[in-house]
Amino acid sequence: MHRRTRIRLAQLLCLALALTAGVTVTGSARAAALLPYQDPSLPVATRVDDLLARMTLDEKLGQMTQAERGSVSTSDITTYRLGSILSGGGSSPSPNNATSWANMYDTFQQAALATPLGIPIIYGVDAVHGHNNVYGATIFPHNIGLGATRDQALVQQIGQAVATEVTGTGLDWDFAPCLCVARNDRWGRTYESFGEVPAIPNAMTAFVTGLQGSTLGGPTSVLATAKHYVGDGGTTGGVDQGNTQLSEAELRAIHLPPFQAAIARGVGSVMISYSSWNGVKLHGHQYLISTVLKGELAFTGFVVSDWNGIDQIDGQGGFTATEVRTAINAGIDMVMVPQAWKNFITLLRSEVQAGRVTMARIDDANRRILTKKFELALFERPLTDRAYTGTVGSAAHRALARQAVAKSQVMLKNSANLLPLARDNMRIFVAGKNADDIGNQSGGWTISWQGSSGNITPGTTILHGIRNAVGSTSTVTYNRRGTGINSSYDVAIAVVGETPYAEGQGDRSGSMALDREDLRAIATLRNSGVPVIVLLVSGRPMDIATALPGWDALIASWLPGTEGDGVADVLFGAVAPTGTLPVTWMASASQQPINDGDGKTPLFPLGFGLTY
Ligand code: GLC
Repeated sequence: MHRRTRIRLAQLLCLALALTAGVTVTGSARAAALLPYQDPSLPVATRVDDLLARMTLDEKLGQMTQAERGSVSTSDITTYRLGSILSGGGSSPSPNNATSWANMYDTFQQAALATPLGIPIIYGVDAVHGHNNVYGATIFPHNIGLGATRDQALVQQIGQAVATEVTGTGLDWDFAPCLCVARNDRWGRTYESFGEVPAIPNAMTAFVTGLQGSTLGGPTSVLATAKHYVGDGGTTGGVDQGNTQLSEAELRAIHLPPFQAAIARGVGSVMISYSSWNGVKLHGHQYLISTVLKGELAFTGFVVSDWNGIDQIDGQGGFTATEVRTAINAGIDMVMVPQAWKNFITLLRSEVQAGRVTMARIDDANRRILTKKFELALFERPLTDRAYTGTVGSAAHRALARQAVAKSQVMLKNSANLLPLARDNMRIFVAGKNADDIGNQSGGWTISWQGSSGNITPGTTILHGIRNAVGSTSTVTYNRRGTGINSSYDVAIAVVGETPYAEGQGDRSGSMALDREDLRAIATLRNSGVPVIVLLVSGRPMDIATALPGWDALIASWLPGTEGDGVADVLFGAVAPTGTLPVTWMASASQQPINDGDGKTPLFPLGFGLTY
């Protein structure tokens, strides 16, 4: 056993004996039992200096390593002094519920506290529209819908609610918000963007304050992540993880401002983009990470790689010593290396021992990481505060989500003022694959990484929202394909659009039109002669210009999440539509990329939206 461990155990034993003997441990005795880094009354910088001085090289390398929960044991965490664990998309304990997550987190944390210095882990997760991996959590609208609200205060409240649910499961770090500026709607991550111009994500960095609080260390503070630095939404062709071909002036004007705004709000971490800038991978870009982000923008938090992001630096599979060295020397402080984390530690150790990565760089990375752990009060409150576990999926959070859904609806057409609908004495026919499907209306990053159709988590579908809204003298009939519609109905509602996807699997290089099933369902409704309202449940604008003349009304519902009542609130006039487009709506897919001010003529411009 380490000498230091023996001393620490002896100190704690003396303290324990004193306490059990009823001896009041005076402040000085307790203080004497605490080492400086363990003393919360000392400045964080002092605690960091003290702790750093006590750490071995291996302890420092462990702090820079983030492994996936499915690829580590508790003994690994203790043995390798790992500093961070993550859940990848959909990586959940079984059973998948809040208590099970909290138990899992505490088990991992106890393993970290069992190390000689007892440095707690920081556990990261993609809670990008609610605590979306957790069954029963509140699922909020994806960012593109929140961008349509232009409501900073609302988005900050949502950040706070998400932080409370994350806290209730023990976790400390959210890989959100995505501050990407989506410039080509073919990109599979368009729905993770708040909008196509920097002004909208700039404003929506309010989510950072919601997550972290005005300062870190509050009872529900969760470390936020500004991602993905930088230019992920500007790749040629909207190819995910592709190449952003811009001048430095254009990169700085379009893609950098949201990170400046997030830094101004004290964002604690930044995640590096998979994409390249003019052919150079961001994960190896010393100028953009160290000179610009850490130097010019004075970012004092820590920089984390994306999932196996360092593997891509040389364009070959897996990672090499050169890639490890390049990434760390570029300024990455923590490496998300889900499975091959032992190899990462081995290679980084050899790079340091060979002098190709300096101890100054290792110490800078550790200083940044430890500073956030101290500021989060992880040393004082390492385990789950179970007082918040019951907030997961709470009625209050669902009410907030319902409000956000309503405010995110963008009404694009309303012939003859068909909307809002009356609640009473109406015969309403509902059709479409997205009318009664929580999975489809939530989109990707929901329960699983890619999301999926079906009844995947508790919530209210749009169809049930409509049924909840009408009075007893009305009837609501549903048939996915529209079969059974006839002229006896007062109105038909087609809920159509996209099925779930995430990241590159959502890239659309070809058609951006509705699929055949949706078009057939709408045609069936139209053939009855009944007025047709189309609700488009999608992660992006779709190519609808040729079909639009046959629709009487159109609302972009985006990806609303679990609270479908919010869509009905707008349909029946409980809430007037106030959403406005956060992205330009193409007149044809051939126009992509199409953005405000580029001289092209869209179907609907950025900022368009009708109201009652
Ligand atoms: C993914 C995403 C990133 C996410 C990370 C961890 O590949 O690019 O947004 O935070 O991996 O799941």
